[in-house]
Amino acid sequence: MATMTDVARCAGVSVATVSHVLNGTRPVLPHTRQAVLDAVDTLGYTPNTLARSLVTARTRSIGLAVSAISNPYFTEILQGVEAAALEAGYSLLIADPHDDPRHERTVVQLLHERRVDGMIVAPSAEPHDLVRYLRRHSVPTVFLDRVIDPRVLEDTAVDRAVASKAAGGTEEAGTGFGAGTPRFDQVCAASAEPTARLVTHLAGLGHRRIGLVAGLPGLSTTSERIAGYRDGLTAAGLAHDERLIVSGHSESSGAEQATAVLLGLSDPPTALVTANNAMTIGALSALRRHGRSVPGDLALCCFDDFAWADLFSPRLTAVAQPSRELGATAVRVLLDRLAEPDRAARTVRLPCAFVHRTSCGCPEEPSGTVESATAASSTLSEKGTVS
Ligand code: HPA
Repeated sequence: MATMTDVARCAGVSVATVSHVLNGTRPVLPHTRQAVLDAVDTLGYTPNTLARSLVTARTRSIGLAVSAISNPYFTEILQGVEAAALEAGYSLLIADPHDDPRHERTVVQLLHERRVDGMIVAPSAEPHDLVRYLRRHSVPTVFLDRVIDPRVLEDTAVDRAVASKAAGGTEEAGTGFGAGTPRFDQVCAASAEPTARLVTHLAGLGHRRIGLVAGLPGLSTTSERIAGYRDGLTAAGLAHDERLIVSGHSESSGAEQATAVLLGLSDPPTALVTANNAMTIGALSALRRHGRSVPGDLALCCFDDFAWADLFSPRLTAVAQPSRELGATAVRVLLDRLAEPDRAARTVRLPCAFVHRTSCGCPEEPSGTVESATAASSTLSEKGTVS
């Protein structure tokens, strides 16, 4: 098997130059670089990444832990992560924590034991153990999709301060970031405003009782979408009725039950907002089971657009998350963190789009339209879908 020394001899350069070309660690003159690449090709040289990792203490790999990877939303996130990682010369190790705090802690430890350079994690609803582990082991991590409550970060900072004091240290409690502790960046979609947009849209069509099939309690996406629903009611001047918010636990069967509860109210809603794609499917099953038509009997607006939302009858009016961009942004933020471990922590929120179709009760249009769901001064633009 060809070695780096063989490549250097064949290209007529030093081993260090070969290393700089292959690792991109220093600029190399174009003709020298080409000579090295030609030698690599001629000799069929394959770098030994394990050997390289022993020298650099880097594996050029990223650990990705996201739940429900079969959900199209997370699959698209994965595609964004993979493309951006590949472009930067990083490989991926993937794990599914199944939104279970214990399993989450286990898979994150397994990824860490494989010495990934950093991690991208969509945290569960109870991320205390996870944060504690990542902090204790100083794992550069970007939290994706779900933002972690600052109090959870504070709690773990208190833990550290107690441990540090016991060991004679001086780390401050409450600051969250003592010297040498990792700073956690976060990347998510802005959820509240788009949900409010769905509610005001339905209110504008005359609905006075709008139900919400909400997500799993404890997730920031759930609380932000509930907050957005409430903001929308307030903006439309509608009464708040807590009975109209029912948890569908972020999944289809939970949403089916939640929708049945809403339909069973003495004064049921005339319109429904579902807080994610899986719950939209569950709500549609319940509506069909109860013989209700959309939008005739009940108008429907959904959080999450997905490939076949345009093929449903009626076509689903939805909020589209920038899923691929979320994944790619998480990689960029993580690489920035690896390059600059002490930079200030960042939370990046990407805007969503309002995709206007017909399940809300609006008349059929030649094509769906996409509108910013985040800025108040949004402009309408054509969407490339064919109805
Ligand atoms: N978070 C945000 N959006 C989603 C999710 C989630 O867990 N599942 C489906 N859409």
